[in-house]
Amino acid sequence: MTSATATTGRVSATSLVRRLGPVTGEGPTYRRVADRIRAATLNGRLTVGIGLPSERDLAMALGVSRTTVAAAYQQLRDDGWLSSRRGSGSRLAIPREHAAWRSDIFGAPAIADEPALIDLTTASLPAPAEPLQRAVEAATGELPGYAAGSGYFPFGLPVLRDQVAQRYCDAGVPTTAEHILITGGAQHAFGLALSSLTSPGDRVLLECPTYPVALDAIRAAHRVPTPLPLGDNADTAWDLELFGAILRQSAARVSYLIPDFQNPTGALMSAADRERAVEQARRTGGTLLVDESFRDVPFGVAGSDQLPPPMSAFGDGATGRGRGGSGCPVISLGSVSKAFWGGLRIGWVRATPAIVERLAVTRSLGDMAGPVLDQLIVSHLLADPAAALEQQSARLAAGAAAVRAALAEYLPDWSATDPAGGASLWVRLPGPYATELARLAPAAGVRVVPGPRFGPDGTMEACLRLPFTAPPEQLTEAIRRLSQIDRTAAQGAVTAFPGWLA
Ligand SMILES: Cc1ncc(COP(=O)(O)O)c(C=O)c1O
Repeated sequence: MTSATATTGRVSATSLVRRLGPVTGEGPTYRRVADRIRAATLNGRLTVGIGLPSERDLAMALGVSRTTVAAAYQQLRDDGWLSSRRGSGSRLAIPREHAAWRSDIFGAPAIADEPALIDLTTASLPAPAEPLQRAVEAATGELPGYAAGSGYFPFGLPVLRDQVAQRYCDAGVPTTAEHILITGGAQHAFGLALSSLTSPGDRVLLECPTYPVALDAIRAAHRVPTPLPLGDNADTAWDLELFGAILRQSAARVSYLIPDFQNPTGALMSAADRERAVEQARRTGGTLLVDESFRDVPFGVAGSDQLPPPMSAFGDGATGRGRGGSGCPVISLGSVSKAFWGGLRIGWVRATPAIVERLAVTRSLGDMAGPVLDQLIVSHLLADPAAALEQQSARLAAGAAAVRAALAEYLPDWSATDPAGGASLWVRLPGPYATELARLAPAAGVRVVPGPRFGPDGTMEACLRLPFTAPPEQLTEAIRRLSQIDRTAAQGAVTAFPGWLA
């Protein structure tokens, strides 16, 4: 059985051959062709749902017999990598047992019945149980007071909009409720902003590596992802000169940035770099879509009041009153998924009242308004957030320490970031074998997501994201398991990298 796929056109035989690389090596040719197609799907060179060329065209392009291609397609079909429907040909799919590597989107139900498997594909914490329970009880008691009205709040519950606005004021960014739209999480907020601020064909600049579901959204909306490579040094991860140059050359209208404990690297943008980023965007007339999902749960600094100011402090896209003055281009996206719990599905956008209205209209096309009870729960959590935030920060700190210690013990050749926040380490492997490692990992009892998934162009094959949201003992065991397949994965890397330099 295969996971759901979207139909996204057909790749030509020539283009497919380019994406596969050389189909040389041991074993029957049909199997090598099938292996290559599978590897290209896993590492992002081919997208799930895309149609494959006809057997005849691919046979000609590869210089093999049609029977060989037919056998390769049949193998992929048997293994769940290809689904064939009358009238729409053969389309790439992800077999159900492999779908968890995309579980940022699909959740991780696949492992619920496989308890021995440790899932390192998602970076989400469980809820802080007691604070959540208290908030649920308080919210339930308050609900009858709302039940007399329609229950529709297209901009969000007024009390919650006020609270979110107050949080920006506390961080030094003057904000009122009219600047806030409550959404169903940060990803919902991102999708709304993307469709309101850009059109199909527009370029959208994003960090590379970046949060892969944002990348999926950009692609699905037919916008063109334009990568800004991040550096390895956490203090200088963003090259603002390069940012300016890419903005000028690409004419990207929107840049999606995660300055607060970037996903996946955990890097934190300095105040000076925030100021420069805003300046560059202002010069080119672009908008910064700033994802602040991880801002509230730092663990390597004393508290979120010790962080550089929010990007909107340097150029305020909502009130025009930031240090940069008016005309400035920052729209902020926030969420309680990391600070409290992803299952609450509450986030927000901070923007001008006009943009907030536009986004509310866009939202209403598919979803009239958010659930009142969930917003009340979040409102109660925000009213007294300390216990929940402390619990989540402590979990993240313990998880990060466990992964770093286990890497030092079991995989000393791997080098990892050392973030003060976020939910994952970004690892550099000693060679380009992340996809092969991810392919072998389930058999060793772990699921991981390889580097290419975090960028638009199939690179970063020597990188891996390691979330540290699981309990520490599981994380240590996961790294131990990965160490057992490390050498085999390095030797058997399915993707050839001529010219690879370590
Ligand atoms: C950077 C970033 N943005 C957005 C999201 C999605 O957040 P939400 O659950 O609020 O939609 C995530 C979740 O991992 C994330 O890491």
